[in-house]
Amino acid sequence: MRMKDTNPILGWAYRNGIRPALTAGLIVAGIVAAVVLSQPAEYRAEIRILSAGNLSADEVQALATTPGVAARAVTLPALSGYNLSAADFFRGANVEQLLEAGLLRLSVRDTDPGRAAGRALTWAQALCAAATARSATAGLGCYDPNPVVPGKLDNFLGWKLLTAFLLGAVLGYGGAWRKARWNKKENASMAKRNPVKSKGGETAQALIRKLKDGKARIGVVGLGYVGLPLVDVFGRAGFSVVGIDVDANKIEALRKGKSYIEDVPSARIAALVRKGALHATTDFSIVETLDALSICVPTPLRKTGDPDLSFIVNVTEEITKYLHPGMVIVLESTSYPGTTREIMLPKCEAHGLKVGRDLFLAFSPERVDPGRKDWTTVNTPKVIGGITPACLEVALAYYGRAIDEMVPVSSAEAAEMTKLLENTFRAVNIGLVNEIAIICDRLGLDVWEVIEAAATKPFGYMKFTPGPGLGGHCIPIDPLYLSWKLKAVNYNARFIELASEINTNMPRYVVGKVQDALNKQRKSINGSRILVLGVAYKPNVSDLRESPALDVIGLLRQKGAVVEYHDPYVPEIRHESIQLKSVPDLESAIGKADCVVITTNHDSYSWKKILALSRLIVDTRNALGDDGRDSEKVVRL
Ligand SMILES: NC(=O)c1ccc[n+]([C@@H]2O[C@H](COP(=O)([O-])OP(=O)(O)OC[C@H]3O[C@@H](n4cnc5c(N)ncnc54)[C@H](O)[C@@H]3O)[C@@H](O)[C@H]2O)c1
Repeated sequence: MRMKDTNPILGWAYRNGIRPALTAGLIVAGIVAAVVLSQPAEYRAEIRILSAGNLSADEVQALATTPGVAARAVTLPALSGYNLSAADFFRGANVEQLLEAGLLRLSVRDTDPGRAAGRALTWAQALCAAATARSATAGLGCYDPNPVVPGKLDNFLGWKLLTAFLLGAVLGYGGAWRKARWNKKENASMAKRNPVKSKGGETAQALIRKLKDGKARIGVVGLGYVGLPLVDVFGRAGFSVVGIDVDANKIEALRKGKSYIEDVPSARIAALVRKGALHATTDFSIVETLDALSICVPTPLRKTGDPDLSFIVNVTEEITKYLHPGMVIVLESTSYPGTTREIMLPKCEAHGLKVGRDLFLAFSPERVDPGRKDWTTVNTPKVIGGITPACLEVALAYYGRAIDEMVPVSSAEAAEMTKLLENTFRAVNIGLVNEIAIICDRLGLDVWEVIEAAATKPFGYMKFTPGPGLGGHCIPIDPLYLSWKLKAVNYNARFIELASEINTNMPRYVVGKVQDALNKQRKSINGSRILVLGVAYKPNVSDLRESPALDVIGLLRQKGAVVEYHDPYVPEIRHESIQLKSVPDLESAIGKADCVVITTNHDSYSWKKILALSRLIVDTRNALGDDGRDSEKVVRL
């Protein structure tokens, strides 16, 4: 039930994420157009022939247009380079009038002022020479040796750039305006094609009006990597937002206008707090005052590998104490299909309120990729599925004010499954490429070379890269929610299981590489000093959750290594038995290490320096690139 394009070409472009490219293209087109449209810089040189000797006007005219004279003029060495004849520069000149005024003015245009002057002088000389050749007494007299060379300000480069910039800005703004109009039309078109049969009646309509006007009071429960950016987005859309979290430290920080999430600048939080548009609290009773609520609490796995829905259950139980008619609740935490309907719906209705009539319940997965700048919570299309059509209608109005593009689906379950498809797709492809790395190793091939070559195919291939294993709160966990759910219907999700097995085994594979590399140097892991570089689960973030580096450290320690780590984003690790602080002096730690293991390729590392200082490196991310490939002391995945 994806909305139909009102303009198929623009629709295709927007959906395929080429909006930035489109805008950049428009700006480039603007620059090119401006350069082409504006004339090249022109300068004019004028030279005055002060007397015409004893030639009459007719004679000068005849002289200028006589083929022989023209030919002679052209053969003069100074003139020949300009590819002009004497006739050319007399063309159109009213010689008679000029002579009456006591002078003959030759005017030359050129894009270079010096050249314009030079050409004017040369022509004057040529004219004199031609006249002298015709009659010994017919010299045209002296000419003013200082031609006037006025530059034309309106052709100055700065003006061109300004024109290009303005054109680019107008086109870019036009693009943005068209996009907004496209969204509006698309929403209208969707509404026509898939009319939401509102069963919520007056309550739903009143809530929708409040949401659309920005007068609704919004709440976000769970202010982590997902919840805090959402608070920021709702605040910027003009809503008054309440943030609820059980972590008192986070609440304290927000009250002081401080952000603890890299993607949300403190300045934006501080601005919302100052305006009174953000209130942070640990007290759930504030739900009584809210019109809309998004739930962004963790959905981890239990030690047994089963879904741990206790966070969703706890929050639902807390908020149901304060539910009131005319409220919309949207679950954003990733979970298996059926969570919203099976876990939340009965609790929401337990106090006599009817979902779809009195209150509205929906699921909308968060798709944020922390650290990413091009696709954020605002411009990543938002998939939404309601428990009833009225729930969907209200939820669309809720998010539609703050987020660029809505993707309504037919049910909460479809929205839940969409998120799991996305994350399973990643987990399976990473599993595949990790296995390809192992296969290439067995065949003596360089997997990085093979991947780069495959990635040149312009269609039908998507590049994934191997590494020390999966990390983060989503990819290693979410697919297992799906496979767990499927077990309940007697189905074994084989791709998920297999990918999970390969990915989970990667830290062990990396430790095997370290073992082999040390072995070549007649050393064992036992007793070796090993420095692990980068422990966050991906580059340029501080998120340590499910990071494979933790497993690598644990396995190396089990084998008797003395492990240290360095990560500019993670000052310390407190994870189960691993209690470590990042080494303060990276260079001296590298110098002392028997082996450096690169587990996360943060941009801030100077890889050339690390390579120069290290004795032995196991590079699991191809961070060293060609330098690593060509170095004897580097072992790559
Ligand atoms: N991090 C991501 O990149 C990402 C991306 C998409 C979806 N998700 C999903 O979003 C959900 C949240 O993930 P996250 O990364 O923001 O987690 P997080 O751990 O960063 O944040 C969760 C927040 O919820 C709070 N919390 C826990 N229990 C609570 C309770 N009972 N009441 C109120 N607050 C409570 C925690 O204190 C924490 O601040 C998860 O289901 C995750 O799978 C995460």
